[in-house]
Amino acid sequence: MIDQYAVFGNPISHSRSPEIHAAFATQLGHRFSYVRIEAPLDDFVGAVQSFRRSGGIGANVTVPFKLAAFALATEHSARAVAAGAANTLCFGLRQDDAVFADNTDGVGLVRDIRQNLRQAITGRRVLVLGAGGAARSVLAALAAEAPAELAIANRTLFKAQRLLMDLSPCFGDLHAHVIDVAALPGHRFDLVINATSASLFEDLPLIPPACFDPHALAYDMMYGKGLTPFLALARNAGAQTVDGVGMLVEQAAEACWLWRGVRPDTKPVIEALRLAF
Ligand code: ATR
Repeated sequence: MIDQYAVFGNPISHSRSPEIHAAFATQLGHRFSYVRIEAPLDDFVGAVQSFRRSGGIGANVTVPFKLAAFALATEHSARAVAAGAANTLCFGLRQDDAVFADNTDGVGLVRDIRQNLRQAITGRRVLVLGAGGAARSVLAALAAEAPAELAIANRTLFKAQRLLMDLSPCFGDLHAHVIDVAALPGHRFDLVINATSASLFEDLPLIPPACFDPHALAYDMMYGKGLTPFLALARNAGAQTVDGVGMLVEQAAEACWLWRGVRPDTKPVIEALRLAF
């Protein structure tokens, strides 16, 4: 039997992960299957168990099950612990009922920015917009790059404050802080990351154009949405703009490395996916 992997979510039909992993398999000369599984909203654990019984050895997990995936695991990577959520599971590595949980979103974002876009994070002023699961998943990885400043701004201020507190062990000596959106006009950043879900609804998170340094990079973690209102505003402000396709492929490549011990070349897969959108 060939190795079996799956991505769990609800809904899941939109997921591009099967084609990304199929491209990795072709490139690496590996044979494995990777399918979408729509888990019932009230029985994620049952869906995972049945996949394991049928021979599944690893899984990706997306909305709304990332917290449930973290909870069902028996072992967690440090980055999953920092995020409090998991997007990658490995089954039965040591004991049959063992589940290892990881979170590859943060490293996916950082690799896309550093390796694909060739932009530094170290020493730069970074702003993350949003304080939900997406922001939580990437803050520790950004902090590990030692930016000069790591700011969080969110429509609902107290959620940003809670996120800062929850992640404070990852920040060490870093200048990590929350900015009230009303105070944003007084600040400038080199890298602005939209981790809100606003782009999903063609909405614009509150971000004054003056926040973008003339050489800034504006990164929307959303993908497949074209020039989102956030990216359009950033472009008008003179910033370089990019969507989250690279992050999507990089987090998949990290999962591939965890499962199969080999890191695929992401560049052709990112290019093909961009053309497909
Ligand atoms: P995810 O897991 O994708 O992060 P989430 O946990 O629901 O989803 O969080 C969504 C984030 O996007 C929140 O920070 C939310 O702001 P609030 O905390 O104020 O709800 C933010 N968000 C969603 N729509 C937004 C909009 N139109 N403008 C600004 N922020 C928005």
